[in-house]
Amino acid sequence: MGFSTIAIHAGNEPDPSTGAVSVPIYQTSTYAQEALGKHKGFEYARTQNPTRLALEKNIAALENARFGFAFASGMSAIDAALKLVKGGDHVILGDNTYGGTFRLFNQILSDYGIEFDLDDTSDVTSLEGAFKPNTKMVFVETPTNPVMTVSDLRAVSDLAHARGAKVVCDNTFLSPYFQRPIDLGCDVVVHSTTKYLNGHSDSVGGFVALNDEADAERIGFIQNGIGAILSPFDSFLVLRGTKTLAVRMEAHDRNGRLVANFLAEHPKIQKVYYPGLASHPQHELAKRQQSGFGGMVSFETGSLQNAKTVLEAVKLCMLGESLGGVESLISHPASMTHASVPTETRGRLGITDGLVRISVGIEDVEDILEDLDQAIS
Ligand SMILES: Cc1ncc(COP(=O)(O)O)c(C=O)c1O
Repeated sequence: MGFSTIAIHAGNEPDPSTGAVSVPIYQTSTYAQEALGKHKGFEYARTQNPTRLALEKNIAALENARFGFAFASGMSAIDAALKLVKGGDHVILGDNTYGGTFRLFNQILSDYGIEFDLDDTSDVTSLEGAFKPNTKMVFVETPTNPVMTVSDLRAVSDLAHARGAKVVCDNTFLSPYFQRPIDLGCDVVVHSTTKYLNGHSDSVGGFVALNDEADAERIGFIQNGIGAILSPFDSFLVLRGTKTLAVRMEAHDRNGRLVANFLAEHPKIQKVYYPGLASHPQHELAKRQQSGFGGMVSFETGSLQNAKTVLEAVKLCMLGESLGGVESLISHPASMTHASVPTETRGRLGITDGLVRISVGIEDVEDILEDLDQAIS
């Protein structure tokens, strides 16, 4: 079946008790059991919930994965995936992940004996040199946030597997509509469903999708054991969101390309980061690995003052953290999403004080372009 058919139908069976076409919000903490040990597969709502289960089937199918688990946030999903390694293990972390992922490694997991090194996962030679005898995982985000560096997921997976390490890919920026990491060899996919999967900026959530049965059992155990589950209401919202993922992503992509081209030609903009531009260093790889480029665009204004001017002058684009909603959001990575990344690392990666990131929404593109033009001018 095609992507949209799966998005609309996977997990969305009519409700068994009423026939409701839309999966109900099962707002319950527990379930009545007929007799000791006799129940309908649902015992306690941290462990199982029908609304969450429907969403788990749905996103797993979209990622072409056998198993899926919904979490309370993208960060709790990433944290669960990282629990597939143990103290004493080494993880290679892409050097330009979301700031919160870096913070999780740098300020939390490092206290529990998980070693990590940052590496540019877009450079396979550099990645090869980063492996240690105890490397058990490579964590990749592609395209990266906010400078849109693309890593070759097939090459990274082949390299890691040859050394006995698993690959986890954060697929938040493209969603399974434009990129399916498991098909490219990755072992685990993580998401902040807060972004494109939900798509309406009204829910915080996360997801882990994977194929390996033993690892899936472990993730399910962690989901229940730690309890950072997605609520029934949020599960309902994300399930509703994924039904329109294909049409939304097409619209984000269309507008994203036009905004990137507009910025690339604007005399006041020094540099544009968008894998869909022919000038992007990994444009060919992005064309091969992704089926679209999406709606995330970053651009260099040249100084903090210029960035401030743009961010404060926009009228339609809203200044705010997050991305992937129907509305255009504009942000300043250095002081917002990537504030927890050390200044020196930010400088090396190109996350300058003049860098502005826009999550291009699905409004009429003329209105977005007009807003950006007046703000930049
Ligand atoms: C790429 C990426 N991964 C993970 C996260 C964390 O997700 P959440 O905010 O849902 O915990 C974010 C949040 O911005 C993100 O952009």
